[in-house]
Amino acid sequence: MSEQRTPVNETKAWAKLKNLRKKLEPDLKNWFESDPRRREHFSQSTDHVLFDYTRQLITEEVMDTLLELAEETDLKSSINSMFAGEKINVTEQRSVLHTALRNFSGNNVYLNGNDVMPDIKAVLSKIEGFSKKIINGELLGVKGDKLKNIVSVGIGGSYLGPEYLAEVSKASAIEGMNLYFIANVDPTDFVRKTEKLNPAETLVIIVSKTFTTAETMANARAVKSWMTNSLGDDPEVIKKHFIAVSTAQKRVEEFGIDPENMFGFWDWVGGRFSATSAVGGVPLSLYLGYDNFVEILKGAFWMDQHFQNQPFEKNIPVLAGLIDLWNINFMGYKTRAIVPYSQAWHKYAAHCQQTEMESNGKSVDLSGRSVEFDTGEVIFGEPGTNSQHSYFQLLHQGSSIVPIDFIGFINPQYKVESNEEISLHEELMTNFFAQPDALAFGKENELPHKVFTGNRPSNVFLLKNQNPFAAGLLLSLLEHRTAAKGFIWGINSFDQFGVELGKELGINIRERMKLYKKDPANPEVFSGLNVSTSELLKSFMEG
Ligand code: F6P
Repeated sequence: MSEQRTPVNETKAWAKLKNLRKKLEPDLKNWFESDPRRREHFSQSTDHVLFDYTRQLITEEVMDTLLELAEETDLKSSINSMFAGEKINVTEQRSVLHTALRNFSGNNVYLNGNDVMPDIKAVLSKIEGFSKKIINGELLGVKGDKLKNIVSVGIGGSYLGPEYLAEVSKASAIEGMNLYFIANVDPTDFVRKTEKLNPAETLVIIVSKTFTTAETMANARAVKSWMTNSLGDDPEVIKKHFIAVSTAQKRVEEFGIDPENMFGFWDWVGGRFSATSAVGGVPLSLYLGYDNFVEILKGAFWMDQHFQNQPFEKNIPVLAGLIDLWNINFMGYKTRAIVPYSQAWHKYAAHCQQTEMESNGKSVDLSGRSVEFDTGEVIFGEPGTNSQHSYFQLLHQGSSIVPIDFIGFINPQYKVESNEEISLHEELMTNFFAQPDALAFGKENELPHKVFTGNRPSNVFLLKNQNPFAAGLLLSLLEHRTAAKGFIWGINSFDQFGVELGKELGINIRERMKLYKKDPANPEVFSGLNVSTSELLKSFMEG
């Protein structure tokens, strides 16, 4: 990837797309009626997922030009560079190799001349061995109890992906095993997750790539006290009840965790791309069994291969990414809703939110130049049908247009007996089929408040089963769709410096709180703060 490449908005394809946008008169109803081949042109069917983008505000010319844009910006070589382990995260001088974590091809993956696969396999086999010993009771707590409660402490990428995967796969969880996540530093999260647990039956995983994240370390210390207050302040308690997933062995040891009980990963796995490393592998193998974690990896690998090998006109992450780009940069739609028609998928939107917004919320390109176009989109979502009874009013009739991803499944996770002609799952799916059409085709009415304008774009993804494989597949689709956009925009999707300033200011406030607690009259406490923050802090400290 060239760092000095022409900005994407100065390419020929971009200019062409701008013209096409000017000429475009969206009319989905007419487009569907006049072109029976629209579905053929704008859908991709594969063994595991059907992607239908017929309801996007695109013509064949638009789609062809988007594909030209992918060629002109050399998307293929960016993808190849990623898979080949080049240091495409230029600001941090790191490779981006999360795809190696689920590489079942049998091929080596080289980084600086060394194959990374043996290390990955070693961690996987350590996870397999450890999780089996906990599940079958070979490894017990300090008092001889079975460790059946897993508490995973971590935030951001060390939490959202694993929680999404765990929620989807809950139906396959090992009987008797429970998994809880403590992410927020709010004591409510801590208390809600721990209050009913017996420390003697609990195994804690501290998940942090850096092992410095303030929230995670504060929660880790709180869980440590909770555990030692109950079981005794004894190194054996930590040894038997605490494990870590991290890249920072020294800090893990300083915390008191035996390096034997640490599961490693590497700086070439970004936080939000780490769910298929030990970050997800350890909690998920303990909760679901290692074999189900492997199913997740296999689903992700399937999509990795699709992304790497399919030509762009058949490549689902690339096509979805190009459509996002059309919506953001040419149609002016800067928000996207993710609506799975599956309760099991209820944490998917939150994970998509971090992956997309932390990756592509950037304002400078790879050479540090300000970009003159929007990158990233605001992502939100909730499962259907709940979302229909909440924010869908705005999506149907509001003045801003929000493209939607509808995700549905042929088979339910559970069959509920009833004498109804239509099952609960079928009832759910009636909505899945109805909503995209209501948005796309609208409805005329003499009463203005009953008019549905239509021409509101959406994608439809249909999968067969709601299982760990599908969860891994959609995880990888998200990762590659996000990366594809970043590659075309010419930004670095793999750093996240935007989260730093808030952290710095937080550290400053923490010091002021400490000073206040020693001496409320100390003038240093509020000095140099702006009037608003100083009054707010005063109100808080005075209680
Ligand atoms: O603050 C953002 C962030 O750095 C994310 O990118 C990351 O996933 C999260 O914090 C947690 O980081 P760590 O795993 O190092 O605790």
